[in-house]
Amino acid sequence: MTAPSQTPAPAPAPGDYAPVRTAILALLAQPEYDDGSAGPVLVRLAWHSAGTYDATTNTGGSNGAGMRYEAEGGDPANAGLSHAHVFLEPVKVAHPWLTYADLWTLAGCPGRTDYIDEAQLPPRGRLPDGAQGATHVRHVFARMGFSDREAVALCGAHSLGRCHASRFGFEGKWVHNPTRFGNQYFRLLARVEWVPKKLESGVQQFVHVDKEVGEELMMLPSDMALVADESFKEWVLFYADFAKAFARLMELGLKRGEDGRVLDESDQKEGYASAPKKPDGPGVPGVANEEAEPLREENEKFRARL
Ligand code: HEM
Repeated sequence: MTAPSQTPAPAPAPGDYAPVRTAILALLAQPEYDDGSAGPVLVRLAWHSAGTYDATTNTGGSNGAGMRYEAEGGDPANAGLSHAHVFLEPVKVAHPWLTYADLWTLAGCPGRTDYIDEAQLPPRGRLPDGAQGATHVRHVFARMGFSDREAVALCGAHSLGRCHASRFGFEGKWVHNPTRFGNQYFRLLARVEWVPKKLESGVQQFVHVDKEVGEELMMLPSDMALVADESFKEWVLFYADFAKAFARLMELGLKRGEDGRVLDESDQKEGYASAPKKPDGPGVPGVANEEAEPLREENEKFRARL
């Protein structure tokens, strides 16, 4: 009997982004790292790749992958991003045709190229400083061509990840669940009390202790600038209201008693009568269902893409 031939897996085709996407999704779960996900630091990498852009001179930005060079990669503002580079490097190894500029921006819309030398690198100092206030934040985002409203929306990315004292002196996370993107950052920024706290590193940040959960959350001075400045604050409240409006949406048509329980005339017994479990299969047992089969096929196709 002959041994089965060991055919190597075909090399990924240049320009095929589907396996790149799959590879990036596969590396997101990092149980040993931070809060268990590489996602936040990858988002920060994408942001810092692009955040050097200057609209007046059309310099900087994500094209070129300037962080490959010490002049940009070694900018103290990029401290900690080496973790993101390490997470993504195997994807580059498996797909050498992919530019770093597209890889680092997790490019949904690829086409960026990598610089071939340092000539086009932006000067250091364009990325924002968390210790600064509203004037600085507005200046940085306006330089990129963003309005106050857009600046506030972008800072909502602080729903993800955390600060590491070893990098800038700041420590902690902005929200309770820092691996799930949502608008908790705006809600907390707008609605709870933040008090200044000087850390051992010498920097000052703002903290809020959630007594229910017993957890301390943080804000950077630059985050607090978004509620100290009236124009920024208008947009923080706007985004924070999504949560309020969504909570209202979930309550439409319900009446609650003083204890918070739903009052319902059809509710004869203790609490809601819970319906019997639905059958495991689609449709009604024993009855042909026009929709079930095509839906099942669709779902199978969808699962195969994951
Ligand atoms: C005024 C503007 C901003 C300032 C001053 C700022 C500053 C900072 C600082 C100091 C950290 C902590 C880094 C560390 O200790 O590891 C951080 C983390 C982070 N920032 Fe920002 N940031 C700003 C805007 C943004 C924007 C616009 C985005 C994305 C659109 C973003 C995404 C993130 C993410 C995802 C993290 C967490 C990274 C991790 O967990 O490793 N930030 N930011």
